[in-house]
Formats: sequence, C-alpha cells, structure tokens
Amino acid sequence: MPNPKSNPKLQKVLICVGGGIAAYKVCELVSTLFKTGVEVRVILTRSAQEFITPLTLATLSRHPAYTDELFWQPTHSRPLHIELGEWADLLVIAPLTANTLAKLAHGMADNLLTNTVLASTCPVLLAPAMNTDMWEQLTVQRNWRQLLTDSRYHGMGTASGLLACDRVGAGRMAEPPEILTYIQSLLHTGGKRDLAGKRVLISAGGTREYLDPVRFIGNPSTGKMGLALAQAALHRGAIVTLVHGPASWDVPLGVQAIPVINAEEMQHVMREYLPNADMIVMSAAVADVKPRDYSTEKLPKRSLPQSLPLEPVPDIVSELAQLKQPHQRLIGFAAQTGDIVTPALEKLRSKKLDAIVANPIDQADSGFGSDNNQAIFLDQQGRQIEIAPCSKLQMAHHLYDFALTGKT
Ligand code: C5P
Repeated sequence: MPNPKSNPKLQKVLICVGGGIAAYKVCELVSTLFKTGVEVRVILTRSAQEFITPLTLATLSRHPAYTDELFWQPTHSRPLHIELGEWADLLVIAPLTANTLAKLAHGMADNLLTNTVLASTCPVLLAPAMNTDMWEQLTVQRNWRQLLTDSRYHGMGTASGLLACDRVGAGRMAEPPEILTYIQSLLHTGGKRDLAGKRVLISAGGTREYLDPVRFIGNPSTGKMGLALAQAALHRGAIVTLVHGPASWDVPLGVQAIPVINAEEMQHVMREYLPNADMIVMSAAVADVKPRDYSTEKLPKRSLPQSLPLEPVPDIVSELAQLKQPHQRLIGFAAQTGDIVTPALEKLRSKKLDAIVANPIDQADSGFGSDNNQAIFLDQQGRQIEIAPCSKLQMAHHLYDFALTGKT
C-alpha cells in the first residue's frame, strides 16, 4: 500500500459527501485513506444520508461523521464549520452534485458542507457525478468553469460509461483509486500548480520488437513509473501527453495517451510532440535491439533460427537531445543493477540530458512492476539527490520538485 505521508505536516483530509448514488463509492475511498495512514473526517449532506449512513462512514474513518443535525449544536465550544475548516489540510467533495456545485460557484452557504468550504482556505478537490443531461447543462458547465477560476479548486473530470439512470454517457464520478491518487498528490504539493500551462511529454513502459506476429524482444517494464509521472504532472497543472508501450492500466482522465508498440513508433511520436513540449521525461524502457528479420507469418518452431541476428533500435532520447530547444528540459531514466551512479552519470553526459534518474532494479519492492521505487537524481549542475523508497507517485513529485527547483 503506498504511503502518502511524504509531507508529514499535511495529512488531514475532510471528505464531504453529496447526495448522489456515487456516494457508495466514497466508502471505499475513506477505508483506503484510513489504511494509508491519513486522518479522515467525513461530512454528509442531508441527501447523502439517503444513500449511505453516517454510521458506515464513522466506522470506516474511526471518527463520528458530521451531519447538519450537529451544525450549531451548543455542545461545541466553537462553531463546527470553523473547527472543521481549520482542521483540514484538504477538502474532497465526492460526489459533487449539481446543487452543491451551484451553491459553491455563487459563494452560498446553507448547510455544514458549504459553510465549511467557505470557512476554510485549504485546497478543495471536486469529483462531480451526475446524469449526462444534468452534467452537460449550460448552467452546470458555467458553474463548473466559474468555480475552477478559483485556484483553490481542483476539478476531476467525469468519466463516460453506464450511469445509474441506465444512460451511457459523461457524468460518472472518477473511480476511488483515481481520487485517492489525486489526494496523495495534493497532500504532497499543498495544491500548488507549478506546472500550470506547461506541456509535459512522457514516455512510459517497455517497447516490443517482434520477430514474427507472436514473438518479441521486450522487458518487464509495466509503465507504472510513467503513469505516476503523468498523474503527478496533471495534478500540478500540466498538459500531459503520455506515449506508452503495451500497458494494463487505465489512462487517467485528462491525460492524452498515445499507445505504441516498438521503438521506431515511439521515436516518431516523441519527435512529433517534441516541439511543443516544455519538459520531456523519458521513463520508457526501450528495448535496445530488434531482430534483423521480421516474418509476417508465425514461424513454425522447427524454422526458428538457432541464433538471432539483431540490430540496434534508434536511441530516442539522444535524438531528442539534438533536436530540443534550450528552454526545453529533457530528463532520462537509467535502470541499473549494482553501482547505479557511474553508468547514470555516463548516460547523463553521453546522451546530453538535463537530468537523469538512476533507478536500481535489483532491490526488493522497487523498479519494474512495483508500486514503489527508489532512486538517485543527477543533473548537469552536478547535483546528486538520493530518494529513499517511496511510492512511484511520490517519486514522480520528487522528480518535478528537483527539475523545477533543484531540490526535493
Ligand atoms: O537503456 P538505457 O539505460 O540507455 O536508457 C537510458 C535512457 O535512454 C532512458 O531514458 C531511456 O528511455 C532512453 N532510451 C532511448 N532509446 C533507446 C534506449 C534508451 O530513448 N533506444
């Protein structure tokens, strides 16, 4: 389980549940947050209680849940919305209904949830959920855009799919793991958008070089590090393009993903997107060689060659380094065993990168396929920073901190 406590000062999350069927998914979110060590408190609106009970969320969060019945009760020494607003490092409104959205967009406060939002200054993560026609109403979209003009609010997109009204369309709430990842990002950054408007181009996963339609040269990379880099950049305000090899994960809402199979395809896409990128992070594990010959028919076992003639694939990042403009930052990865620093420094120089992530792949719970990672960051200025084992999302945030400030 990833531990989100990278910023030990920020770990108090107030989940505000609105009245929609997606409220049932918030139970899983609260449960997972608690297990990852975050302090969780929950507010339910009156209509949220029609879908799930305060008892469910109190049990999962290990703390009484707050409802409008408790608002302004004389037993509280200080007004509850002030207490809660001051307590929270982060507010999450999930599901955000059309009604609560409209109130927030106009600064209204008529229940505990909306009063607490106005009585706090921390970042607010919004996860809307509603029927497609409701979500697409001009008034709702206007309120949504209006609310997001305030940098305090971080809006998650809605997914398309089967809705509770049996329609298929936009308006589904983001899934709990995606909300959880966004929460972990905001706990790390405190809500800052230091990549706002920047275009970040990321390569991820392993490439495959086919010998025939079923056999290939590849490696165990799953693309999870590149996925985390895409999520972290998105949550810091970037416009993200993710060029990835075969992968088993879902592309995050709001990320432009371009699937590729082999190094040449990856090279073409990276070249095409390079001119507009401000930062390029090459985390892909590119297969270094390919079979010289390709058979369009599956080779029978008896015709398989005893030894395979190979030829090199293009070194994508070296080419990008030649093509890039001085303002563009180019960061590579070096997956290594044993001494990770010497070969990484060599690659930093020979490939003319701005920075490189030396990544051990012979340590437990780190590198290929793991949810966690450890690394040493090195850059052209001679800086060298060791990052202790942490989740890949945290690693991604440390890397952006390093790239933007030289520190983590
Ligand atoms: O495989 P190697 O250790 O040389 O990878 C170092 C960096 O070079 C990584 O960022 C990787 O994505 C990139 N690379 C590439 N094209 C290749 C091989 C590696 O862009 N053919």
